[in-house]
This record gives sequence, C-alpha cells and structure tokens, in this order.
Amino acid sequence: MTEATTAEAAAPPAVRALKTPPSPRVPRLLQGLGFAVARRRMLDAFARRYGNVFALNLPVFGHVINVADPALAKQLFMANTTDVGNIRPSLERIFGPGSVFALDGDDHRRRRKILTPPFHGKSIKNYEQTFETETLREAADWSDDVPFETLEPMSRITLNVILRTVFGAEGEKLDELRRIIPPWVTLGSRLAMLPAPSRTYGRRTPWGRLNEYRRQYDGILDRLIAEVKADPDFERRDDVLALLLRSTYEDGSSMSSREIADEMLTLLAAGHETTASTLAWVFERVTRHPEVLAKLVAEAATDDSQYRQAVILETQRTRTVIDGTARHVYVPTFQLGDWVIPKGHQIRVDIAMMHRRAEEFPDPARFDPQRYIGERPPTFAFIPFGGGTRRCVGAAFANVEVDVVLRTVLRHFIIEPSTAPDEKVHSRGVAYTPKAGGRVVMRRRSTPLSAT
Ligand code: HEM
Repeated sequence: MTEATTAEAAAPPAVRALKTPPSPRVPRLLQGLGFAVARRRMLDAFARRYGNVFALNLPVFGHVINVADPALAKQLFMANTTDVGNIRPSLERIFGPGSVFALDGDDHRRRRKILTPPFHGKSIKNYEQTFETETLREAADWSDDVPFETLEPMSRITLNVILRTVFGAEGEKLDELRRIIPPWVTLGSRLAMLPAPSRTYGRRTPWGRLNEYRRQYDGILDRLIAEVKADPDFERRDDVLALLLRSTYEDGSSMSSREIADEMLTLLAAGHETTASTLAWVFERVTRHPEVLAKLVAEAATDDSQYRQAVILETQRTRTVIDGTARHVYVPTFQLGDWVIPKGHQIRVDIAMMHRRAEEFPDPARFDPQRYIGERPPTFAFIPFGGGTRRCVGAAFANVEVDVVLRTVLRHFIIEPSTAPDEKVHSRGVAYTPKAGGRVVMRRRSTPLSAT
C-alpha cells in the first residue's frame, strides 16, 4: 500500500461545507405549535413560499429538512443506514425498547428479518378469510338507508383482524384487548407528538393513564404468550405471534417476551388506525365519484381486482393517511441533492406533498383511478408506505385487507352516491381521517354479487 492510500484510509470522512435549504423566519415555538395542531396548513404555506425543500426548526425534533422531491426521497431511502437512521426521539417512549420503532442500524435489520416473513404474500393469503368474516360480522348490524360514519365500523374490523391474525387472540383475551386498545391507541397517538415528561407522573395524568394501559396489556400478553406456547397445534399456528415465537435471529437466539409484547403493540398501533382511515377515505371518495363506484360494482361481480386496486392507490395518493416519515443524520455531513445537511438534523419526506406533485400526477387534485390502469405509480413519488429499509412492514397486509373489505361491502351492499361536499381532512394525532368519519348510506342487496 502506498503512503498516499494509507493516509486516505486513515482520514476522517470528508466534511463538506454546509448548504442547508431556506428556512421560514417563524419562531421555533410557533413552528412547533403549527406542526402539532395545523401541520398540513403550515407546511403547504411554507412550500408555496420556499418550494419543495425547506428547513424547519421544531421543539422536540430539532432541525428538520422537509422534502417533497422524488429524487431526494430516493436518495434518503436508499442511503446507507450508518449515514441516516431512525428519527430522534424515536417512538420508544410509546412502544418500549423492544419495538422496531425503537431500533436502529444492525438491531433494526435483524428485527426486520424476523418481522418480514409473517407479512409476505403467502402468509397474508391465510388471512383473507378473516378479513371477509370480520367485515360480514360487523356489517350484520348495518341499517338500510341510514347514514353512518364508516370510520367507526372500519376501526372495529381492522382491530378485530389484527387481534385475530397478528395476536391469534380468541375468547376472553380477545375481549379484554378489544376493550383497552381503542382508548389507549387514541391517547398514545395524541401523545406521540409530545416529549415524555422525565419525572414520575400521577395515575390521572395522560402519561399515567398510558402507563396503566400498558400494565394491563402486559398482563394480558403474558397470559396469551403462555397459552400460545402451550397450544398442541403451536407448530402449525399461522398467527404472527406464533410465527414470532417460533423464529430466531441469525445467532439462534429468539425474541424475549418483553420484545414480543412491544412488537405486537407496535404492529397493532401501526396497522389498525391507518388501515381503517384508508378504508373510510375509500368510501368517502367513491360516493363522490358515481362513475368510479359503478365500475367498482361491475368488477365486484367478477374475480378481477385491477380497478379496485387502482381506486385504493388513488385514494392513498389523494387522501394520504400518514403524511410524512423522517430519518436522522448520523454522518458529519449528508449530501442531499445540492444540499449538504449537518449531523443531528432530521430529513423528513413529506408524503402528502409528494403525492400532489403535478410533475408525476398531472392535475393532481383530480381523483382518477384510471392513472394506474396498465401503469404502476412512480416508485419514489407514490410512497404511502414510506421507503427503503424502514418501509412499512404491513404494506401488503394493509393492501389486501382494504381490497377484501371493500370487495365484501360492494358485494353485499348498494352504496348510495353522494352530492355532499368533500369531507375535510382531519388529524387524529398520527393518521389523517375524513372529518365526518366517511359518512355513507347503504342498502343491503337482496342477493349478494358473486364471482361464480
Ligand atoms: C394503509 C395502512 C398503512 C399505512 C398508510 C402505513 C404507513 C406506514 C408508513 C408511512 C410507515 C413509515 C415507513 C418509513 O419510515 O419509510 C410505516 C411503518 C410501519 N408500519 Fe405501516 N402503514 C399501514 C399499515 C400497516 C399495517 C397493517 C401494519 C402491521 C400490521 C404496519 C406496520 C408498520 C410497522 C411495524 C412499521 C415500522 C417499520 C420499520 O420501522 O421498520 N403498517 N407504515
């Protein structure tokens, strides 16, 4: 080895001169308030003034570069995990240290190896029947011609689906989890945007209540894990809990009960409200587009799903449920297009803004599923599930669930088109939902549509 190359090998990583995007001259506290309570409005206003890339300065999250450019999103999502990683603070304070949301680098990679197989297409095929059964069970009580908010029943369907397919819960434990989880998730998603207080908190404070839910949940999970392990059919069970209990890391070790409890909670919180909100938006969108609804109905009487899939994609694009995702910069400087971002900054991909780019989606405000007939959406501009090594682990699961629930409703009910104005977008802490809950009027078909 020559002297020059030895010197090169020993040299610290190149530190480039910083070049950060423009930042609004709005005080940090005010930006923080806007981010927490009127995020879309604030970020859209900044984008009109500064374009696709600008810098925020927020309490809790610090300096955040907000990006709505597919080339930059690609660069971030594909970057080395030693250069950029999990956001700080991570969601560990909500889900615990055993959650994939708490892990970074190699620990994250090892966990994803265990977590990914239960969410592969083959595993999801086993769950399709549960998606349909839970939809029919919930729809049994729907009254003809009475308007109702779809978000509520959809939330019950997606919760039951997760409790059965992911937790493998039945009977008493299913009921206990069903009772504590909805208020807990609502509280947790509101607190997710706030820093956790460092001192001990009273039982009546929101953080104290969160702890109490957690205590109850841990008790139920311990009993559930013991029951699943003792099941004579343990080796053949296809719920995610059993799959996680059976799987091992590369070194042969397995996940501890605590890690499993944290991870199950993560899957539930990440998968329940997001999927229900997507479904509520689908109903809100199709009732306002009778021509789309008519095509969906015609297709529901067949085994095809191409148009339904296009409707789901267009709903996710135009009514994005999770509006952004971020990574933390670990290296001294991170080159992002022409920008040079310093260590400690976070880079946030603005998913909602990206989905409204006219460059990739001409006439972006138009709801037009036809965009995806015979054409796949552009990979790094259409990112409802994020991207790269941290891309949503439940993306395929959510897609099949939305597809089967929608197909089941279309086959069993006549959905009335609506001339009501579009529902406004409402933030529920983490997910964006239709403000009036995706109200619809339906009537049960005397004979369900059937593909055969
Ligand atoms: C339509 C429904 C859903 C939407 C819109 C959604 C969206 C997202 C987004 C945007 C991320 C962040 C990805 C990134 O940082 O690049 C994510 C992560 C995640 N999602 Fe989903 N998700 C949905 C359903 C689900 C379901 C059904 C599950 C599981 C049952 C799930 C489990 C997760 C997990 C565990 C992560 C963290 C992945 C990691 O950090 O490695 N999600 N999701």
